[in-house]
Amino acid sequence: MQAASITEGPPEPELVRIRELIYRVAGIFHPDNKLRLLRERCGRRMKNLGMQSLSQYFECLTISPIRQGELIALLNEITIGETCFFRNTPQLDALRRIVIPNVLAAKANGPQRRLRIWSAGCSTGEEPYALRMSLLDQAEGLLEGWVVEIIATDLNQRSLEYAKAALYGKYSTRNLTPRHQQKYFLPFGDQLRVNPMVRANVTFSRLNLSDDARMALMKNVDIIFCCNVLIYFDLTSKRRVIRHFFNNLLPHGYLFLGQAESLFGVSQDFRLVHLPGTTAYVKGESSPPEGKTL
Ligand SMILES: C[S@@+](CC[C@H](N)C(=O)[O-])C[C@H]1O[C@@H](n2cnc3c(N)ncnc32)[C@H](O)[C@@H]1O
Repeated sequence: MQAASITEGPPEPELVRIRELIYRVAGIFHPDNKLRLLRERCGRRMKNLGMQSLSQYFECLTISPIRQGELIALLNEITIGETCFFRNTPQLDALRRIVIPNVLAAKANGPQRRLRIWSAGCSTGEEPYALRMSLLDQAEGLLEGWVVEIIATDLNQRSLEYAKAALYGKYSTRNLTPRHQQKYFLPFGDQLRVNPMVRANVTFSRLNLSDDARMALMKNVDIIFCCNVLIYFDLTSKRRVIRHFFNNLLPHGYLFLGQAESLFGVSQDFRLVHLPGTTAYVKGESSPPEGKTL
């Protein structure tokens, strides 16, 4: 079928325009060597809609009555993210042993015993649920009497629906220890369902990290996990997102990125801290005031 076929040679002008649209809406940039992938994903949507040409599809994305819904559907195709439970164990150990005690100490004299952790780009939910499990491991200790909120957000609506169902197969759960599996999951056929105690404090919602208005509302966060998400963005979009994170965090706030990611060349606002087997960024006292622009 013409709609799904990929031709070599210079990119079709409509494909370049779709790339610009995706970049404008979500900050996700497809360099020339990823255009083929974008073409494939558009092809899948076009097949679904019975469309033959990219120009027809571009019109559907921009001027048709269903453009809003179709854009969401295309973004769902584009942002299928690899993830699993306990993807980065040193990060979670450092969270429990070092970061949480530091944050609680910083908030000790504050008006509220409330801890807000944001999993930004949570995909199908493994990361925020694992965060909650790590905190529950510590519940009898330091967190006694604290209200814990895990705010999990992603752009991909389909991933969020999956996350809310909280039902996972062997691939996602391959890193679980038998203790975690027994304590935090219930068997469901040949799958595992996250138990209600873990799910209770985790909320999921759709949030585009490139939506400045919505990002500005994410206030008073203690710790942000934004792991393996910035890979989708070019430098300009990364800087915008990181600037928001800086403003979203409380003064003692921490930012965790993916294992292969860093703020080198992106932002100097945070202070890098070395933790056992991992690193994090701290907003810290030496950071510039909120108003500074990049
Ligand atoms: C590779 S997954 C990372 C999942 C998890 N954080 C981890 O490290 O295992 C990347 C996620 O980023 C999300 N994402 C990409 N662009 C985004 C945007 N503009 N706003 C919000 N989420 C976005 C994708 O939908 C995808 O679920």
